[in-house]
Amino acid sequence: MEKDLSNYRKIYQKRELTKKSVPENPMELFQKWFYEAEESGQEEANAMTVSTIGKDNFPKNRVVLLKKFTWEGFLFYSNYNSEKGKAIQQNPNICLSFFWHGMERQIIIKGVAEKTSENISDGYFESRPDGSKLGAWASEQSSVVSSREELETSLQSLEDKYKNKEIPRPSHWGGYLVKPVSLEFWQGRPNRLHDRIRFTLQENFDWKIERLAP
Ligand SMILES: Cc1cc2nc3c(=O)[nH]c(=O)nc-3n(C[C@H](O)[C@H](O)[C@H](O)COP(=O)(O)O)c2cc1C
Repeated sequence: MEKDLSNYRKIYQKRELTKKSVPENPMELFQKWFYEAEESGQEEANAMTVSTIGKDNFPKNRVVLLKKFTWEGFLFYSNYNSEKGKAIQQNPNICLSFFWHGMERQIIIKGVAEKTSENISDGYFESRPDGSKLGAWASEQSSVVSSREELETSLQSLEDKYKNKEIPRPSHWGGYLVKPVSLEFWQGRPNRLHDRIRFTLQENFDWKIERLAP
């Protein structure tokens, strides 16, 4: 099998990014770019790639939904016993990335993940629809299952068990807060001379701002 993709070529030309134009705190720029991605009609602007290094020493990427960002960092929810959960337990240094193609922008964030408080996880779990709550119970995320029926049977019995009852949060399901140590903002430019501005957290908690070669 062969498919040649060498003719796939897009000219990036919508915007620019300069060191002079960026705020001192990268979270401010993240917020600005996030709002602009939303306004541009980007579907699921909060979908991000989360990369972890696993026990097998391989990196693994998967898409997860960003559920909140604050001055402190980036929050997402998952199963603590999943492949990513086990990887984070062993090595909390992870990488998040966003690609907003309508804006010709990418953001790459290196950070340290920590479990959020039980309170925060409870609060978010409570806000989810019942189907999603039961799904968190029904699926031992990342484990091997013999068939789809096995999952559906498990969901059915949970639906019966929790009929007209409050569905508690499983203790193995909750949030991660990723505190960033570096954020790289990429703006596509013509002739592959893209703009890349990287913010790196310093010991005194200031951010060093540098332009990188594309
Ligand atoms: C658009 C999209 C959103 C997703 N959101 C989440 C999420 O918020 N949390 C989550 O655990 N998995 C989410 N997933 C599923 C993950 O990509 C992944 O399959 C799952 O977390 C298991 O990953 P792991 O086995 O590497 O731990 C999402 C997938 C897609 C495509």
